[in-house]
Amino acid sequence: MPRAAGENEVEFATARDQARADLIAGLTRPLAGISPKYFYDAQGSKLFEAICALDEYYPTRCEHEIFRLHGPAIAEAVGQGTALIDLGAGNCEKAASLLGILHPRIYVPVDISVGFLHQSVAPLRHAFPRLAIHPVGADFSESLILPAFLQAQPHKLFFYPGSSLGNFSPVQALRFLRNIREHGGDLLIGLDRVKEISVLESAYNDALGVTAAFNLNSLRHVNQILNTDFNLANWSHHAFFNAAQNRIEMHLRAHRACCVTWPGGVREFAAGDSIHTENSYKFTLESATELLHRAGFTQITSWTDPLQNFLVCHARTD
Ligand code: AVI
Repeated sequence: MPRAAGENEVEFATARDQARADLIAGLTRPLAGISPKYFYDAQGSKLFEAICALDEYYPTRCEHEIFRLHGPAIAEAVGQGTALIDLGAGNCEKAASLLGILHPRIYVPVDISVGFLHQSVAPLRHAFPRLAIHPVGADFSESLILPAFLQAQPHKLFFYPGSSLGNFSPVQALRFLRNIREHGGDLLIGLDRVKEISVLESAYNDALGVTAAFNLNSLRHVNQILNTDFNLANWSHHAFFNAAQNRIEMHLRAHRACCVTWPGGVREFAAGDSIHTENSYKFTLESATELLHRAGFTQITSWTDPLQNFLVCHARTD
């Protein structure tokens, strides 16, 4: 649709204002929090790519192994000629390895980090010249609004790999899945499984400190958006498994008393106070199946890797 001059700028200003309001709300709560979406500026997206290559961070490898071992069965369950909507596509690497197996008609990578997305699709256009590729820059964490051209597509397949669903609260996850279902799409989703605590905790406390850098980078990003004066040297990465909630929690902990200001606001932190930056929920086969059923999906098929670390589920709308 043609846009009036200045319309994009207005949208950017609104998104920026919303981000500021969201950050202020999080920083002024009794237990301060920053949404995990603020991990993903250009630097954070690169750090996340580095995390995925770490020895300790098994989810990416195990999910890849599932697609390698069960690709033909997954393709059969999915069917050909889909409009493949890749939610949180990032570098598009996961979908790229599936395009030759799933044979979609249209590929729609969606990501909050739109600059990174445009770079990422360039090689795909060369590798798959007949595939229609429509990158979409959007934050779908609150609500999933599809561009008009997609609404009319007959066979939509939402691809949500990497256990990103685990970064939503259970209520948000259910709402998100119901939203997908209302769009009339099938779903191919990757979920991380509950497992031995030591394996889970090392995945979020790698020896090289990449996850720590990723966590701390969110403060740098917040400084840019909200004009805060976070001094990264005052904060350290803290990640642990909360067994009662079946989730890894990531926090940034102040190791000395400090005061953080922004235009019109201030927050004081005592030594030992923390900012909650991420939850990463883990699933069992039963909890994953139950969640998908509660969201209204039917005919759920799932595959796992030989170490049984990860799950890929295909769920149908009807
Ligand atoms: C994107 N998401 C599924 C990752 C996770 O495992 O929850 C983000 C991440 N956080 C720390 N390491 C990776």
